[in-house]
Amino acid sequence: MPIPSKTFWIETFGCQMNVHDSERVAGTLSARGYTPVERMEDAGLILFNTCSIRDKAAQKVFSRLSQYKALHREGRVFGVLGCVAQQEGEALFRRAPHVSLVAGSASYPRLPELLARLEAGEHRVTGLDPASEEAFETELTRRDHPFRAWLTIIEGCDKHCAYCIVPYTRGGERSRASAAILREARMLADTGYTEIQLLGQNVNSYRDPSPAGLSFAELLAAVAETPGLKRVRYTTSHPRDFSAEIVRVMGDHPTLCDHVHLPSQSGSDEVLRRMRREYTRAEYLEKIALIRGCRRPLAITTDLIVGFPGENERDFEQTMSLIEEVHYSGTFIFQYSPRPHTEAGAWGETEAVPDAVKIERLMALQRRQQEIQAADNQAWVGRPVEVMIEAYQTKLAQWSGRASSNRVVNFSGDGRVEATAPGALPVYRPLRPGEYAWVRILRAGANSLVGEQIAAPPAANA
Ligand code: SAH
Ligand code: SF4
Ligand code: F3S
Repeated sequence: MPIPSKTFWIETFGCQMNVHDSERVAGTLSARGYTPVERMEDAGLILFNTCSIRDKAAQKVFSRLSQYKALHREGRVFGVLGCVAQQEGEALFRRAPHVSLVAGSASYPRLPELLARLEAGEHRVTGLDPASEEAFETELTRRDHPFRAWLTIIEGCDKHCAYCIVPYTRGGERSRASAAILREARMLADTGYTEIQLLGQNVNSYRDPSPAGLSFAELLAAVAETPGLKRVRYTTSHPRDFSAEIVRVMGDHPTLCDHVHLPSQSGSDEVLRRMRREYTRAEYLEKIALIRGCRRPLAITTDLIVGFPGENERDFEQTMSLIEEVHYSGTFIFQYSPRPHTEAGAWGETEAVPDAVKIERLMALQRRQQEIQAADNQAWVGRPVEVMIEAYQTKLAQWSGRASSNRVVNFSGDGRVEATAPGALPVYRPLRPGEYAWVRILRAGANSLVGEQIAAPPAANA
């Protein structure tokens, strides 16, 4: 059954790479004459861009698919993209027979061809290519975020963490040529974006495939120097590939945000070894020391997994002591979920940690981390912080945004009066999402800072 109208709707699950992939898929669709619609019910083509990192994430798409089955009877065409598509392959057609398209991220360059087949009425279209040498380049990317843009620098992952499905769903590492990245950064700055987030499963194993041969740190520096950009973030870093050079470049370029996300996963050497993380606790802490040695303070956040097979009380205490030692400014803590195609997924139940224990450990870590954050955030009270405004919170009657350290800052303020030139009349600049404001912090909680707008502090103007 051909696609009834050239309209589409796309729902995205998972990480920022997926969010950005959806923007690129939307761009490809628009280039073929499709228009996006606000409601799934109005779309001819309904796409789910899926995540498979934990079982719960993967199940979401199947519940969505059964929830909206009736739309298929009305002639709508369903497609499943992303990591669950790659993981399930053609088996997905058996589980959800009303799906017409199954495509993993490595096949997005072939989307125009896959769409043409759907348009011709084919009902079993697959794009399950293994990762090719080429990274995904599109003519057109529909940017959904009004003032923060994502920019992929490397796709896939060559590590083999025992628990992780990503190398399977996303394939091996492919870096984009530095010139293409820098061109896109300039284009984004020219169209008014001031914040860019460089994306990759493993950004610091970036290897420039072009003769320029930039290292990740050199690429960071080059992106940071793009005229018009005010903030550059990057995620995710793997501890083994994280270098002193990156910290030096961050110190030299204030455009590079005061934040490093460095997933540790566990504080126990034994668990790290079994996870195949390729570093010990001591080596991880050496990287933390490098970051702490930066010439300006950097916030550090992490991912942690609790209940990895064989994790005992002593191992868990090591993770607890790691968060005590590092004083992260934020943590993402996950219960281990066995995944197909992974090494640990095949280990069976013998060393499995019971769900109740996983939950207990997760909550204990979260409780302690909240106390650490609440105490550490007190140090911000009284200090000026520059905030990129994201939204107005009507309920709180406050603006909300993020500091360079990625901390959430809520503040009161109604714009400022600014002198333009000596002798000229001052102008009133209202606050708006996407703009920057200086805020003095008045109160600090575990998860956010609260303050009031001030004029830019003199030091910041220097
Ligand atoms: N490439 C990044 C992270 C990718 S996935 C890195 O190496 O850090 C994001 C996070 O999901 C991981 O850091 C890990 O904490 C978590 N995760 C991955 N696989 C998981 C699994 N099977 N069960 C639970 N959490 C998992
Ligand atoms: Fe997964 Fe490990 Fe690769 Fe991160 S580094 S994507 S956790 S295999
Ligand atoms: Fe999920 Fe795939 Fe990202 S598994 S976390 S959407 S790379």
